[in-house]
Amino acid sequence: MHVTLLSGPNLDLLGAREPELYGTDALADHVRRASAVAERHGWTLDHLQTNDEGVLVDAVHAARGRADAIVVNAGALSHTSWSLHDALAAYEGVVVELHLSNPAAREPFRHTSVVAPVADGLVAGMGGLGYELAVEAAVRLAGARGTA
Ligand code: DQA
Repeated sequence: MHVTLLSGPNLDLLGAREPELYGTDALADHVRRASAVAERHGWTLDHLQTNDEGVLVDAVHAARGRADAIVVNAGALSHTSWSLHDALAAYEGVVVELHLSNPAAREPFRHTSVVAPVADGLVAGMGGLGYELAVEAAVRLAGARGTA
């Protein structure tokens, strides 16, 4: 069983970028802990970070038929990218939307997620812990669906 973790724009700057909002851990630290959760369940995890919307869409296409779940923190594309929405709609596995911060408690433009309507669930506002929770949720949702 396999989970694909996707990271959108500016998440490559985690640790240095607005640490008061996003914490001081680097993306690699979050990925390491997310991988450890997957491994505990006997799953494998791959990760891609991109600042490019099209590359993110391609990564969702690549997960079709290959990954049992996608955990996606699409950054600001979560609020704007209908092409990402459509790609996820065409993906058959479990989708967990992830945010370090709680977008609902921030500026109004962050209150709408175009990922949410095509996600099975959402982990937000938990900081770095969210990466572990989101993988845990993806694995267990896939199990409940009978696909794991
Ligand atoms: C974010 C929240 C988004 O609104 C923002 O654009 C990000 C990070 C989060 O993880 O809290 O880039 O996805």
